[in-house]
Amino acid sequence: MKITVAGAGNVGLVTAVCFAEAGHQVTCIDTQREKIEMLENGHSPFFEPGLEPLLEKNLSKGQLCFTTDQNHAYSEAEVIFLAVGTPEKRDGSVDLSYIYAATYTIAHTIKNNVIVCTKSTVPVGTNDMIKQIFQQRKPRHLRVDVVSNPEFLREGSAVMDFFLGDRIVIGVDNPEAASIMEQLYLPLKIPLIQTDIRSAEMIKYASNAFLATKISFINEIANLCEKVEANIEEVAYGMGMDKRIGTSYLQAGIGYGGSCFPKDTKALIQLAGNVRHPFELLESVIKVNQQQHSLLVKKAMELLGPLKGKKAALLGLAFKPETDDIRDAVSLTIIKELLEEGSIVTAYDPIAITNAHNLIGNSIEYTTNIRQALKGADFAIIATEWDQIKHLPLFTYPDYMKEPIVLDGRNCYSLKDIEQYPITYVSIGRPTITNVKPAEQH
Ligand code: UDX
Repeated sequence: MKITVAGAGNVGLVTAVCFAEAGHQVTCIDTQREKIEMLENGHSPFFEPGLEPLLEKNLSKGQLCFTTDQNHAYSEAEVIFLAVGTPEKRDGSVDLSYIYAATYTIAHTIKNNVIVCTKSTVPVGTNDMIKQIFQQRKPRHLRVDVVSNPEFLREGSAVMDFFLGDRIVIGVDNPEAASIMEQLYLPLKIPLIQTDIRSAEMIKYASNAFLATKISFINEIANLCEKVEANIEEVAYGMGMDKRIGTSYLQAGIGYGGSCFPKDTKALIQLAGNVRHPFELLESVIKVNQQQHSLLVKKAMELLGPLKGKKAALLGLAFKPETDDIRDAVSLTIIKELLEEGSIVTAYDPIAITNAHNLIGNSIEYTTNIRQALKGADFAIIATEWDQIKHLPLFTYPDYMKEPIVLDGRNCYSLKDIEQYPITYVSIGRPTITNVKPAEQH
């Protein structure tokens, strides 16, 4: 099929490349010329494991092309995916200006009947507005079907999630559009759910809100574990054996970040507010998550007293491993708080430094070398569970730090391993290991 994807961001680019890989003829359009030029040269503007090889392969096969030209992108397309940004506004509502701008452009440019699929995460009811715009603006003789087709891609595993996702959700209001979407997706052999448009829009928000709720729940249980001397790793393991609970999204830590959970949970609160339905549970999920972000700096102050002038090694800038994305990363909250306390911060990250530096400038030092960050540090805070941190030999901490005090926001290490080293180790939902030098043990 001839597919066009509007938007070459984390969702749009993965969708375009993967549909090309699946054998479709794909055009991806974006308004940012420098991004399109980068993509035409086979380079992705963001890190996503496995994406670039597929990008280069499908570019060279002529299966995929990039453009800023609206006519080139929309006039011949059979299916158009809206994958433009829907960022959060200051009041927590969703900025739909890019969605509507793309919709108007498509309405004025199409030359054939087309299916327009909204892949971007949009509040319930948005696709009805998109339909109205097409009814008012499209050429009279053309037919435009609007479909809701939310995505469930996780950054860092988006290519895998595209081909091995748990389900495809299609919100559609007529059988012809439904059968075309089936033709498009059935070769992926992923369970396909066809439902009405509003339910499809809600499935996306409800899914992300539930995952965020699961994370805040396990974090609250972790906070309780610390007070009753239980161990959250054991608790989460025991809980997850129950198939009704499941093992995933029970990893206690300093809370969720990223471009989705924080934005989508606030958007759902807004949506509920608009229909005068106070969503108290979700408000608590957000509140718990924000408190979790500040846990480690508080604990550092309890351990070390005032942090003014103290050297902090911050390990991990990206909001999660295997991405260079720092949007709403917990590291940003930690850096802000450390600087407010007058601490001197050196941050380590393998790939997110450029994005972090663009956002926070030279108020901190940056390094892609963990040992460099740890050198002479009074304490270390782990904000992202990069493999490079998880597999760091533990003697590195006492070898390089002035004071081997490690506050681990992602429970990277087992307590048994830590106990073998002269490290003071604070983690989430588990007992603190004090700095007992082996020589002092007998
Ligand atoms: C999420 C949803 O998983 C995905 O389906 C949706 O399409 C987009 O939003 P993403 O935000 O990319 O994906 O990453 P995810 O792996 O879900 O992690 C989100 C945040 O939750 C990260 O900050 C991560 O550190 C945190 N997290 C995740 C936990 O704190 N504990 C967990 O057990 C899992």
